Amino acid sequence: MTRRIAVLASGRGSNFQAIIDAIQAGTIPARCVALITDNPEAYAIVRAEKAGIPVVIIDYASFASRELYERALLSAMQQQEADLFVLAGYMRILGKGIVQAFPHKMVNIHPALLPSFTGLHAQRQAIEYGVKLAGCTVHFVDEHLDCGPIILQRCVPVLETDDEDSLAERILYEEHIAFPEAVRLFCEGRLEIVGRKVRIRN
Ligand code: GRF
Repeated sequence: MTRRIAVLASGRGSNFQAIIDAIQAGTIPARCVALITDNPEAYAIVRAEKAGIPVVIIDYASFASRELYERALLSAMQQQEADLFVLAGYMRILGKGIVQAFPHKMVNIHPALLPSFTGLHAQRQAIEYGVKLAGCTVHFVDEHLDCGPIILQRCVPVLETDDEDSLAERILYEEHIAFPEAVRLFCEGRLEIVGRKVRIRN
């Protein structure tokens, strides 16, 4: 069955691109029905246009309050009738109302091995803490930041010569593998959430 997915992204969109590529290659059985962005300057918009994906811009700066912004975002999301919302570098924390509107229908990628290093600058946090392994996590979104049930993780070594940028680049390579893989498993109906665990069916 071809699923409908909608992507939320705020910036460069390299993870969005990895998902577009996997859809085009026939690896993910889905159609990307929209890119929704809060940033009219996001390079993700160019990627969507090249792939013929409709773009919805909900410009955060044009709303008088966060509440009004979230109301517009919720309505834009509902209109997509998506089976899955993919947060691919969406840089705002989603309010409870939005998260609760799409239970178990939203996934995020975070550039750390959760539950370590939540929030911003995860790669910098890993370097400063001195961990020897870092990585990325794809997880379902719940009401808490970077906290929902974990679908996949991939890890990389942290080298003594690393700075934030070199580590981020090594992690990003793994993100581009993990994210399309997790979206594929979802679209194939193979993810089962049991409590806070995700079982991957064969
Ligand atoms: C990635 O590192 C992702 O893990 C984080 O934001 C970054 C987005 O990068 N949530 P891109 O826009 O997908 O290139």
